[in-house]
Amino acid sequence: MTTTINDWLETAAERRRVFTADIHRPRYHFLPPDGWTNDPNGVIQWKGEYHLFYQHNPHGPFWGTIHWGHAVSRDLIHWEDRPIALTPSFDGPDKDGCFSGCAVDDNGTPTLVYTGVADDRQTQCLAMSRDKLLTWEKYQGNPVLATPPEDVRPLDFRDPWVWREGDTWYMVLASGQLSGGGVALLYRSSDLRNWNPLPHLLTGEVEMTGEVWECPNFFPLGDKHVLIISVWPRHSVHFFVGTFADERFVPESHGVLDPDGSLFAPLTLNDDKGRQLLWGWIDEQRSREVQQSAGWAGVMSLPRELSLDKSSVHTAFVPELQKLRRAHTRLNDLNIAEAVDVEGVKGSAFELRLALVRGSASRSGLILARSPSGEEETQIYADWEKGELVIDRTHSSLLSGVEQGIQSGTLPSAERLYLHLYLDGSVLELIADEQLTLSTRIYPSRNDSVGIRLFSSGGVSGPTTLEVWELASIWF
Ligand code: FRU
Repeated sequence: MTTTINDWLETAAERRRVFTADIHRPRYHFLPPDGWTNDPNGVIQWKGEYHLFYQHNPHGPFWGTIHWGHAVSRDLIHWEDRPIALTPSFDGPDKDGCFSGCAVDDNGTPTLVYTGVADDRQTQCLAMSRDKLLTWEKYQGNPVLATPPEDVRPLDFRDPWVWREGDTWYMVLASGQLSGGGVALLYRSSDLRNWNPLPHLLTGEVEMTGEVWECPNFFPLGDKHVLIISVWPRHSVHFFVGTFADERFVPESHGVLDPDGSLFAPLTLNDDKGRQLLWGWIDEQRSREVQQSAGWAGVMSLPRELSLDKSSVHTAFVPELQKLRRAHTRLNDLNIAEAVDVEGVKGSAFELRLALVRGSASRSGLILARSPSGEEETQIYADWEKGELVIDRTHSSLLSGVEQGIQSGTLPSAERLYLHLYLDGSVLELIADEQLTLSTRIYPSRNDSVGIRLFSSGGVSGPTTLEVWELASIWF
């Protein structure tokens, strides 16, 4: 008996339903039906639909036997599952895993460019679809690029990012220099199948940006070009802004996305509205044992739009997310001294906007996911004296095996804070003034850890405007 796509969709929905009562499982972020995910892969728009592929282990909530999962969306927000796109082939160059990569339109043929892993060797492979991106056929001539240059770490040669300029394809690849420091390798091809090396696109220094630059993205933004890389082993995401001419990139400035947060290995897409959209992997912050019993691990960030402000990359959540808004509460002109409960607003799936003026306070901000007597709570506040925005998870959870550290980034302004924040079960994503992004995970144990408070210490903060929207689930 053959399985139709509808049968398959029903099974995927049943697999999702198993987790209905799991308070830590997000309701409006994308994640696979079950099992493991890490990097987003191959995001592409095809005939108006957004396709998102992702690193996936269908055999359990742990990294291993890496496949490419697949989902599709018409509006960027609601996703429908698709059958697994890439499975390691017994005896193929990807027998030990189908690692990260991208998707391109090869003159009308949707084509995935990914890294195959076999016996620790990483090589670049292709797969094509002839049925509207539903099933994928691996190219017989795989791998199409097998030998790393001599000056880089031979076992780190992965994560192809490919684009076309006129008749020429370019590929940027991740590696690390033998002499230390990450490198973004650059290649050229006329047919996606034969690749010639060009001088390295950019190299880094170990102290600044780690040993290997994973998952490079390289694209025009405004009148500049931007290179985004994910640092191994330090797990941070950096961007370089500069100019690209005559196949050479000259960086002019450098910054960090999501400093101290959990966003990693982001992937971008230039959509038909001309927006450069970004998704990242937000990892679990709990032990392997807890992950194993949860049955799922890893989640995609909400889509964000990138823009260039002088020499810096700014991010904003996409406006399509407003579709999810339900009950709304707005409080205006509040002056906050000490802590006040926000009456009538509770939850663990909401969007929140806060506009806060420092006033005389030394600290001010929010408390979320608070149990009625405060046994569990997460604080998010401006430490005006230190100039930091802080997420304090010290009391986020009474559970063991979950991370509870403090995360912080530089406050964009010394006098005011515009915070845009999404909480979704255990996933917390915030952007301050479109400049500072922090993504993290919290795992409150109690069903009633859903309260919201405003607070200040050392003085009075105000005037403050707070808006909260309950958000709908994207699944059921
Ligand atoms: C980044 C990464 C990539 C690799 C993939 C494997 O998180 O290590 O470099 O392709 O994950 O799952």
